[in-house]
Amino acid sequence: MTKRLSFSNQKGGVGKTTIAINVAGALNARGRDVLFVDLDPQGNATEGLGFREAYDEAPPSLFDVLTDPEQRESFPDLIREHAEMDVVPSNIDMTAAEPELTLSRRGGEQLALALETVEADYDYVLVDCPPHLGYLTDNGLHATQNLLIPALAESTSKRALELLFDHVEALELDYDITIEERGVVANRVETTNEGTAMLEWFDEAFPDIPVWEVRKRVALQRAFSAGVSLFEYDADVDMTETFLDVAADLDAQFGFEEPAAATPEAGR
Ligand SMILES: Nc1ncnc2c1ncn2[C@@H]1O[C@H](COP(=O)(O)OP(=O)(O)O)[C@@H](O)[C@H]1O
Ligand SMILES: [Mg+2]
Repeated sequence: MTKRLSFSNQKGGVGKTTIAINVAGALNARGRDVLFVDLDPQGNATEGLGFREAYDEAPPSLFDVLTDPEQRESFPDLIREHAEMDVVPSNIDMTAAEPELTLSRRGGEQLALALETVEADYDYVLVDCPPHLGYLTDNGLHATQNLLIPALAESTSKRALELLFDHVEALELDYDITIEERGVVANRVETTNEGTAMLEWFDEAFPDIPVWEVRKRVALQRAFSAGVSLFEYDADVDMTETFLDVAADLDAQFGFEEPAAATPEAGR
């Protein structure tokens, strides 16, 4: 059974894309097959995984698949191969997706319908959501029904998370579904007073789900520029341990068995 997970927080620049790419890299290092979907019209993940040319490509793109039921079957054709995962790239046309989805029937359900057309059996589908609570994010949350929340270890995150949870609750009612929070990644953690206080706040605010800490590391930016996760770029960077912890915890939460050897070489 393929497990699906969205990386969402309507605040921009908190690390959704960075965390999603590196969790994908860590899952791959544990031997999991990952399909990564870039739902953000800005296409940061698409670029960060080396598919810049796909972002500018002529239709059909993810936009057409999400907004035109007759194009839904072309979803599998969008899949690109990356060293660590398969990728459905975003596209410049995705900037027009919000208004289109607002007008269409079942506007929040299109990604779920598209994913039904994928025959390859992935262990995980990871969805990198855009930085706003609109129809695209709804598509991600509805299709995955599992949420991992990257958030900065800053006090502004409190309000952002309140809004996110209000939105998740509203979606659960709208669609009669349950969206499980699988964890929080406190990102760009620094050992300042605010950083330390926020980590305490995260732990208190989320007693029932794991809270991981990702520190500020230039290697994360360098890996992004190189089009790969830390695991392909430089598996010796200390943060790889954290991403492996996240991957191991997700595997446990989703009922996957422990791999024989969890080394970066264990991927495909
Ligand atoms: N832990 C980190 N250490 C250093 N730079 C980071 C870290 N996390 C994110 N960044 C950088 O911050 C910027 C925003 O991150 P990004 O993942 O694109 O956020 P989002 O997807 O939430 O908009 C990017 O330039 C990224 O390289
Ligand atoms: Mg992003």
